[in-house]
Amino acid sequence: MSVIRPASVIRSVVAGFGAALPREQVDNDALVGRGVDTSDEWIRQRTGIGARHVAGADETTVTLATAAARQAMERAGVGPDEVDLIVLGTTTPDDTFPASATRVQAALGVHGGFAFDVQAVCSGFVYALAMADNCLRLGQARTALVIGAETFTRLLDWEDRTTCVLFGDGAGALVLRAEPGAGTAADRGVLTTHLHSDGRHRDALYVDGGPSTTGTVGHVRMKGQEVFRHAVNRLAEVVDEALAATGLSASDIDWLVPHQANRRIIDAMGRKLGLPAEKVVVTVDRHANTSAASIPLALAEAAGDGRIRPGQLVLIEAMGGGFTWGSSLIRW
Ligand code: UT7
Repeated sequence: MSVIRPASVIRSVVAGFGAALPREQVDNDALVGRGVDTSDEWIRQRTGIGARHVAGADETTVTLATAAARQAMERAGVGPDEVDLIVLGTTTPDDTFPASATRVQAALGVHGGFAFDVQAVCSGFVYALAMADNCLRLGQARTALVIGAETFTRLLDWEDRTTCVLFGDGAGALVLRAEPGAGTAADRGVLTTHLHSDGRHRDALYVDGGPSTTGTVGHVRMKGQEVFRHAVNRLAEVVDEALAATGLSASDIDWLVPHQANRRIIDAMGRKLGLPAEKVVVTVDRHANTSAASIPLALAEAAGDGRIRPGQLVLIEAMGGGFTWGSSLIRW
């Protein structure tokens, strides 16, 4: 009689996490004080945002990413010569080129392996995680830094109250290490990743500038309600996809760590999954929407304060400009 055993596989296991926020925190009233035609009440009611961090002149995507990565490496006990892959999700690189990931690589003293940026706006961290996971599982690297970092406030038109109150700056990072797994959902590490995009929705969320068109950086423009509607529907689908791929159910999830764009979208996802509010990690109240940085910032906060513990099942999901969207299940 033959015994069917799951094939042994390589898993990308979380070995460390880190975060970095700009020094300056700006609350809603301070925006009103700076002349934005809004109110603390409107912003809180419609988005759940109370404050955001705004990068100063000496703080950039690369400096924030480097600080978050350094913390993650320290926690993992990993030195610069062990890191052989850096994937950075960002929409706000320091330079048009080279990739900000290579500047982070140099700043960390990492001289081997390879580094590149991923551009998927608010889904950037999920995309970066999926790319790093693929590289580790294929044996192209053994120890990866996956970073989401943004200075999104540099893209804001402070005269446009429909967007300027929504975003903030920051960075978060994970160290992933290739380790053998049994090939089951009980393994530690990234269990599954799911990515999507649909370029027909460009006009709903975009920046009105770029090196090949205007030669400027541009400002973010958004049709908020259209994005909101798509977010709720697409995120529900991609979460179902992750559960179906692993044979897990919503009741197995220990933590939902969603992209932090709007408290109403976050609450809708929690309700859809039947998760009590205590199992949903929320930072949007203090960080606002930090695009690709929001999920790793939230992961670092919840793992740092002892909520997320080794062995627990974490669901991440995000949706952003493109549109892009994606999800992943990670056993911490
Ligand atoms: O991370 C990428 C994904 N992004 C998202 O997921 C964002 C998704 N969208 C949203 O979160 C929401 O659509 C917003 C928070 C952007 C907007 O909330 P909303 O409930 O959809 O508001 P609305 O756009 O329908 O605007 C309602 C009213 C309008 O006034 P009128 O036309 O009803 O008189 C706006 O002019 O609120 C007004 N308004 C504001 N009022 C005070 C818009 N922005 C502001 C503001 N302060 N900052």
